[in-house]
Amino acid sequence: MTQRVVVYKNLPEDLLAQLKARFEITEVDSVDSDGPFAAAMAQADGVIGGGLSLPSAVLDRASKLRTVATVSAGFDQFDVADLTRRGILLSNTPAALTETVADTVLMLMLMTARRGAELAEYVKAGQWQGSVGPDCYSSDVHGKTLGIVGMGRIGLAVGRRAKHGFGMNVRYHNRSQHPAAEEALQAKWLPLDDLLRECDFVCVLLPLSAETEKRFSMREFALMQKHAFFINAGRGRVVDEAALIAALQNGQIAGAGLDVFENEPLDVASPLLKLPQVVALPHVGSATHQTRYDMAASAVSNLIDALEGRLPEFMVNPQAWKRE
Ligand code: DGY
Repeated sequence: MTQRVVVYKNLPEDLLAQLKARFEITEVDSVDSDGPFAAAMAQADGVIGGGLSLPSAVLDRASKLRTVATVSAGFDQFDVADLTRRGILLSNTPAALTETVADTVLMLMLMTARRGAELAEYVKAGQWQGSVGPDCYSSDVHGKTLGIVGMGRIGLAVGRRAKHGFGMNVRYHNRSQHPAAEEALQAKWLPLDDLLRECDFVCVLLPLSAETEKRFSMREFALMQKHAFFINAGRGRVVDEAALIAALQNGQIAGAGLDVFENEPLDVASPLLKLPQVVALPHVGSATHQTRYDMAASAVSNLIDALEGRLPEFMVNPQAWKRE
């Protein structure tokens, strides 16, 4: 019998065609607990999508569901233990976005330290009336010390750019040491407090988990140097946002480059948006045409493999894998 797949939100046409050639497809563009999404899920063998969430009422009815392919590297929106208990394999796309997110991190570092957005606005507003003075000066990036919190694929790609492109010294903090980063970048592992004290840029690339939630709060910002910049391209809830706002308002740190927030989309009334030393992006770390396509392709391939009995390349909970 043909297997059924729910496609949540859009997939590129050629990738959708690959799924249509193999499976019976239902396309939906919103999640519900008792509407068309829940009804389609009740019949589905697999589901694929980005920004997907799976209410337990939907999973309770989805008795045939064997695999979920998220078009994202992060999977904090899923209860992985619950999926595993239900025997549902979750796959993700961690490799496709590495270099693009690393580019975004460098962009945030440059935009905050060199005041890119602010000075571009200054020109657009017609304020550039003569040669610039210290009110337009900014801070160097090259030669400074970068601390990466969460040294994985993206951290390594950021470190490469920082070390080899900008001559930066790389420090990192991770649960375990990263020999490849130490060898390729002469990166030095530091306890988190030491990294915060020592670095000119603190770049957070942590996934969200019970362990990392609000990992950065008043205490951590107080340890940072006054001239240091805080960059977050991991997950917003890793940071106590109120504490970050206070640290910026009180001049405890020099600025912040943020692609992720406690609540997304960021409230237009957020005090962050009133601070000139903050660069806020709309969670676009991986959002280039090519990378979003590559992520979708990776998710499609994970889904096809799982439903056709092959081990997908990227699995979050391999213990849920059952070969038929
Ligand atoms: C990811 O893939 O997890 C990125 O944050 C985009 O959602």
